[in-house]
Amino acid sequence: MRTREVWRIQRAGTLDRLEPHTDSLPDPGPGEARVIPEAIGLNFADIFACLGLYSATPAGAFVPGLEFAGVVEALGPAVPPPDPSGEPTHPIRPGDRVFGLTRFGAYATAVNLGVRYLRPIPPGWSFAEGAAFPVQALTAWHGLTELGALEPGDSVLVHSAAGGVGLNALAILAAVGARVVATVGRPAKRDFLVERCGLSPNQVIVRDRHTFGPQLDRALAASRLDLIWLWDHADRLARAYDRLAHLVQRPPFVGRCFGFDDTPAALRYLQSGESIGKVVLEV
Ligand SMILES: NC(=O)c1ccc[n+]([C@@H]2O[C@H](COP(=O)([O-])OP(=O)(O)OC[C@H]3O[C@@H](n4cnc5c(N)ncnc54)[C@H](OP(=O)(O)O)[C@@H]3O)[C@@H](O)[C@H]2O)c1
Repeated sequence: MRTREVWRIQRAGTLDRLEPHTDSLPDPGPGEARVIPEAIGLNFADIFACLGLYSATPAGAFVPGLEFAGVVEALGPAVPPPDPSGEPTHPIRPGDRVFGLTRFGAYATAVNLGVRYLRPIPPGWSFAEGAAFPVQALTAWHGLTELGALEPGDSVLVHSAAGGVGLNALAILAAVGARVVATVGRPAKRDFLVERCGLSPNQVIVRDRHTFGPQLDRALAASRLDLIWLWDHADRLARAYDRLAHLVQRPPFVGRCFGFDDTPAALRYLQSGESIGKVVLEV
């Protein structure tokens, strides 16, 4: 048993209900590790959950947060892997730097989680970059390759391309050799995509109700568009991470970091739509 700090919401409805709280975390159970987060990734789904707009939101009080990166403090009793002939597992030991994917509960200074949802942080990546990676990279990966059957040469429209999922999608599309048309809500985001991601200005549409159609036609020129969760499939996470790591070797772009005490301000910044890349809490 260990005391920890969390950001908790008593009942979904508004971000104003998010409040700091101290509770006790039991020792890690069979197959679990206790991790001390150094950084926590923010997602738009966190805002939807706090507002009560996300169908998976837990009933009653809950701690938001779907991903984090930190150091393994302790391990629970070992359990045999579910399928010894299945996907490769990464041995996790106390002291390891890991990132983790969790179903709520990451806005905390200590977390217990099944080791199969943890992964070593790649060498050279910061904790913030590790915490910025799993949800958005896997979402972009799953949508483009598993659901979208992406092929080299496909033309793909990426909305809000300067956001977390969007930047991951651009990295995957570049690695596969697909054609991209991107949309963003503000000119500063177009400039960011041109400077950082090497897109040409006419590949990036700053959305505007009146000119979107003609701009899209121009960006596509003569071509056409080909393509506009994994919790219950944890056995597929390892394969997805491995293939992602093979395709995209750069760490994610962390646009802005906030302190753990400033969690409500960080969520409001993400909610504003101004953010570029990932918004991260540093613990
Ligand atoms: N299914 C899943 O597992 C899963 C996982 C992660 C994310 N998602 C979804 O993927 C989308 C992107 O998520 P993200 O975490 O990467 O967020 P994000 O792109 O970093 O931020 C959201 C972006 O949406 C755009 N936007 C459009 N209308 C908006 C509005 N009314 N208010 C605020 N922003 C608005 C803004 O960019 P522009 O102004 O440039 O358009 C804003 O920066 C979200 O819809 C999220 O729910 C799904």
